[in-house]
Amino acid sequence: MEKIVGGRLPTPAINILPTVEDFEIASARAVGRLIKAAVGERSRCLVALSGGNTPRGIYRRLGDLLTSQSVDLSRVHLIFGDERMVPPDDPDSNYGMVRHELISRVVIPPSNVHRMKGEMNPEAAALEYEQELKKLFLSFADRCDVMLLGVGEDGHTASLFPGSPILREQQRIVRSEFVTDLGKWRVTLTLPVINRSRAVMFLEAGEQKAAIISNILAAAQPNEELPASLVHPDPGSLTWMLDSKAASLLPSPLGTRVS
Ligand code: 6PG
Repeated sequence: MEKIVGGRLPTPAINILPTVEDFEIASARAVGRLIKAAVGERSRCLVALSGGNTPRGIYRRLGDLLTSQSVDLSRVHLIFGDERMVPPDDPDSNYGMVRHELISRVVIPPSNVHRMKGEMNPEAAALEYEQELKKLFLSFADRCDVMLLGVGEDGHTASLFPGSPILREQQRIVRSEFVTDLGKWRVTLTLPVINRSRAVMFLEAGEQKAAIISNILAAAQPNEELPASLVHPDPGSLTWMLDSKAASLLPSPLGTRVS
């Protein structure tokens, strides 16, 4: 967690794009640049992918971009920020969405894609994934190079929900939780993993997210009722990619409007 200097959290880089299409194109390009830079500098890149719907168009564009630019994906490993506890072919599966939108568009060794097993018992799946990540952190990369995140309208990110005890987890890197408001189990990376990342990028679009994004970015202190406000990589970078609708409630000087 970045030091709170002068009583306020540092302001992240905020890029505001006019339309959803511009947002998807700019986000895909930004992620592609991060991947290529990591492969160029360290001959490897560990990417944690967000679930949900917002990233779909970004992943499609990213897949086409990585292919068109012949990025060597044998040096890239993909992990997941969280998963709904459903089988991979279930419409709700984050892995299923990434397989359709991204993995199907690129050439990447299957062993480089690390799926949270939504079909398993949640705690068993969390323990198994934690072991798999620990091996990856020892053998491939000591932290995520790129951490992609979304934000729910309640301020959750990954599957870290408001008021959850998992928000205070400092030892485990993967946890399972029954999310009462959803009535469903989730498996999620924990904040220590997220905040160790070299580059964290929130990807959000749409008017329905404007209020929560404004609240999160206005938060002077980390707030467990706004889990996304607890994401402050240190020494990594924090960037918000937004479309103009999602940014519509931000005070004008905040953020760089990219035309
Ligand atoms: C999930 C995600 C979650 C998501 C937000 C936003 O499994 O749902 O990991 O954190 O990013 O809920 O979802 P949308 O992009 O669908 O609004």
